[in-house]
Amino acid sequence: MSVRKAVIPAAGLGTRFLPITKVVPKPMLAVLDKPTIQYIAEELLSVGIDDVTIVVSPGSEIIKDHFGESNELEKRLLADGKLELYSILKDTMKFKVNYCVQKVANGLAGAILCAEPFLNGEPFALLLGDELLWANEGQTPCIKRLVDVYNKTGKSVIAAMEVFGDDVSKYGNIGVREETDGVITVDRIVEKPSLNDALSNYAIIGRYVLSGEVIDMLKKLTPRNNEIYLTDVLDQLAERGDLLASGFEGDRYDVGDKFGFIKANVEFALKSKEIGDLTAEYIKELAKKL
Ligand code: G1P
Repeated sequence: MSVRKAVIPAAGLGTRFLPITKVVPKPMLAVLDKPTIQYIAEELLSVGIDDVTIVVSPGSEIIKDHFGESNELEKRLLADGKLELYSILKDTMKFKVNYCVQKVANGLAGAILCAEPFLNGEPFALLLGDELLWANEGQTPCIKRLVDVYNKTGKSVIAAMEVFGDDVSKYGNIGVREETDGVITVDRIVEKPSLNDALSNYAIIGRYVLSGEVIDMLKKLTPRNNEIYLTDVLDQLAERGDLLASGFEGDRYDVGDKFGFIKANVEFALKSKEIGDLTAEYIKELAKKL
C-alpha cells in the first residue's frame, strides 16, 4: 500500500524556549517568517501526502488556526491585488490536518498511538517536529527518499546520519547488517547508548516511514520505566530483517534547541530572496567585530 498519511509529533512543551512558549506553542516558533511546523508539513508535498496528523500538547489550538481558513484576510489580499501574499497565505491551507492532543507526556510511542484513529492501519510517514530538514535545489527531500525505499521494498525505513564522539549518545543508534546502494539493512537498534555500547556511527534522525503493523507491535510492548518506546519496536523489526535505513541529502536543523534554532534562522535569512544579500553583508560586517 502506498504511503498516504503522515504523523508529526509536536507535543513538547518547549520549556527550553521560555518565556515565549508560555503562550506560543513551540511548533509555532518561526524560522524567518514561517512556523517550524509548516516547514515540516511542506516536506510532505514532495511525496504528495496532504493527510497530516499533528500531535499537540493541550492549549495548542493556534496550530489548528494556522492551517485553517482565513476568509477575511484572503478577501482583503485579493481585493488589494496582493497576489504574492495571497499565495503565501494559501500555502498554509494545503493540508488536511487532523489534530490529537497528547494529554500525558508519554513520548514518541504515545504520540503515535494518539494518532492511531487517523491512520486506518496504513503505512505512515513520521516526521519529528523538532527537526527541520531542507533539501537544496537538485537534492531529493529526505522523506521522499524514505518513501521511495518503502515503495520498493515494503519495509519500514528510517533516516540515518553519521555522528561522532559524545553525539553518539544523543540518538537512537543503528547496527548494520549489510549496506547496498546507500540502503542499510538494520541489524539492531539501541536508544542513546553509551559510547562503549554503540553499534556504529549511524544515528536515527527524525524521519521514518513505518508499516501499519507498527501500531499493533507498540500495543504489545511491555513497558520499561513505565513507558513504551518506539525504539523497541524498531529493534524487533530489525531482528526480523524488516528494518532499513537510508542517508539523506540536504541540511538538518535541530530547531528544538536554541542554537539549532538560531542557525536555522541565520541560514534561512541568507537563502531568502528578500533579505539574503542584506543579511550576508550584515554578517560580514559583524564578523569583523567578533
Ligand atoms: C528521538 C528518538 C531517537 C532519535 C531522535 C532523533 O529521541 O527516540 O531514536 O535518534 O529522536 O532526533 P528524542 O530526541 O525525542 O529524545
